[in-house]
Amino acid sequence: MGTVVEDIKDKLDIAEVIKGYITVSPAGKNFKACCPFHHEKTPSFMISPDRRSWHCFGGCNEGGDVISFVMKYENVEFYDALKLLAERAGIDPSRLRGGAGEYRKYDALYAINEAAKEFFIASMPPHVREYALGRGLSEATLAEFGVGYAPNEPDTLLRTMTKRGFSVQDICEAGVVFRTERGTYWDRFRNRLMFPLYNHVGKVVGFTGRIMPDDPKAAELAKYVNSPETPIFAKSKILYGFHATKAHVREAGAALLVEGQMDFLMAYQAGVRNVVATSGTALTGEHLETLRRLADTLLLCFDNDEAGQRAIERGIDLALAHDFSVKVVALSGKDPADIVRDNPQALAGFVAAAGSARDFYFNRYLPQSVGISHDHEALKRGVRAVLLKAKALPSPFEQSAWLKELVMRTGMSEHVLQSEMDRLEAPHGAVVPLRVSAVPYGQAPAAAPAVRESRKGLIIRRIVQLGGAPELASFAPEYVAPEISALSEMKASLDGGDISPEDRAKEVMLLVVELEREWRKEKIAVLKGAIIEAQAMKDEVRLASAMREFDTFSRQLHTRVDDKTHK
Ligand code: UTP
Ligand code: MN
Repeated sequence: MGTVVEDIKDKLDIAEVIKGYITVSPAGKNFKACCPFHHEKTPSFMISPDRRSWHCFGGCNEGGDVISFVMKYENVEFYDALKLLAERAGIDPSRLRGGAGEYRKYDALYAINEAAKEFFIASMPPHVREYALGRGLSEATLAEFGVGYAPNEPDTLLRTMTKRGFSVQDICEAGVVFRTERGTYWDRFRNRLMFPLYNHVGKVVGFTGRIMPDDPKAAELAKYVNSPETPIFAKSKILYGFHATKAHVREAGAALLVEGQMDFLMAYQAGVRNVVATSGTALTGEHLETLRRLADTLLLCFDNDEAGQRAIERGIDLALAHDFSVKVVALSGKDPADIVRDNPQALAGFVAAAGSARDFYFNRYLPQSVGISHDHEALKRGVRAVLLKAKALPSPFEQSAWLKELVMRTGMSEHVLQSEMDRLEAPHGAVVPLRVSAVPYGQAPAAAPAVRESRKGLIIRRIVQLGGAPELASFAPEYVAPEISALSEMKASLDGGDISPEDRAKEVMLLVVELEREWRKEKIAVLKGAIIEAQAMKDEVRLASAMREFDTFSRQLHTRVDDKTHK
């Protein structure tokens, strides 16, 4: 008997497990399928029962074992995937639970969060219930999402939890209690309206707490306090409410993205059910990947203030890079929660009237007032901002439509606008190398993919094999330095065998295009790092330039490109 992870991989046929999720067809001793993690029409997703692994040779270039597949597909953390699979493999559940089991910790963390939720619900006094109801939340919504209250006391939760038999160390690790420098323990949340945060299978993994407005220190304290990251809670992955709404998102083919718990709950309560919220963090690529598997349209519905508008702009760029069709919901009031409280029917109307990204940029940078005022500087700035976005558009039709609209809005001639656009260049900022992201604690053993070799290396080898080496001249030599890959064997089951010279030339051409995509993906990865850094350092100038470059590259990634330099 090995570890639980080894036993799962031994007992379960990876192909059989994956067949339970997607349609696969045989390819030699392997299996192939259309990749469930990106959209494609020809299969580039391979499953190798021998290697007990899967790999996508298409857009994702990602791979792993049966556990990482389930984590990714079900969007659950390591331990949840392990539980699902252990059950299926007929592994004694006590090996996952109980005293000395290697995964005892996970169960403790879930149990503590669940118990804390019950505690917060039981602790809600009438005046807090009044506050919640006064904000428009119904009793049914409070009950369905387990909203509660953290008392204004130093350690009541801690004492309740230890009485129930949890260790102080586990309670701390679950994040609901923290240790001070002096070595004492305090409840993390005090005098706050508590929203449990659920993972995508509906288990409580953390909390966010809103300060009660009557708190004497309300003005100094953070409005919302969130649980820290824990082995079961990864902020950048979790979408608030997704466990309750994913079926609606799939059915609608569209997701309405809002900014917080109140917005989510009020939208949900108003019957707009294909809604999800980010919680305590900015929108991430992981959030978008989760949604993209269920929906192709993303409706951004953020606060009607400058921060919200900036978040929308960033959301548009990120969502376009994830191949979403993006729409922007313009609100009359402060935020979706306020709209619903004032009129529960109104939100659906705003959502139905969502505009395009183009409308958004025009209204943001060229409000009607700018066109007719005499503030030429403001007009110039606005026109340039729009031209920069237009310049990055993949479609010449779209670009021309933007220019025509600009003519209408500003009265400038198309000729002038066109030459201004040609002249504009995204300023080049210093690019910081991509930071290596830390692997969340507890995921490392199984989440580390069994195979993650370079797709670039594969493409280059194949091009050389086909006699296409001269085609590589447009790439920088250090980029195309040949790489050896253990994956060639898996890749070989995708290949056809003998081919004619015409097919050979065609394949080389396609491979070169693929290699260009890889090159752009690398650039984008570096830019993502730069964006994260710039945001962290609040360096607006570098952020703007990195975002613009990111925009350009990501658009190129989703279109045919004429620029043939990759150096
Ligand atoms: P908002 O400040 O827009 O929340 O933050 P809201 O819903 O309008 O709050 P109310 O209406 O005043 O109660 C949106 C989300 O950002 C996160 C929370 O998840 C919140 O729901 N946030 C906000 C924090 O994590 N920390 C903060 O200090 C503020
Ligand atoms: Mn808000």
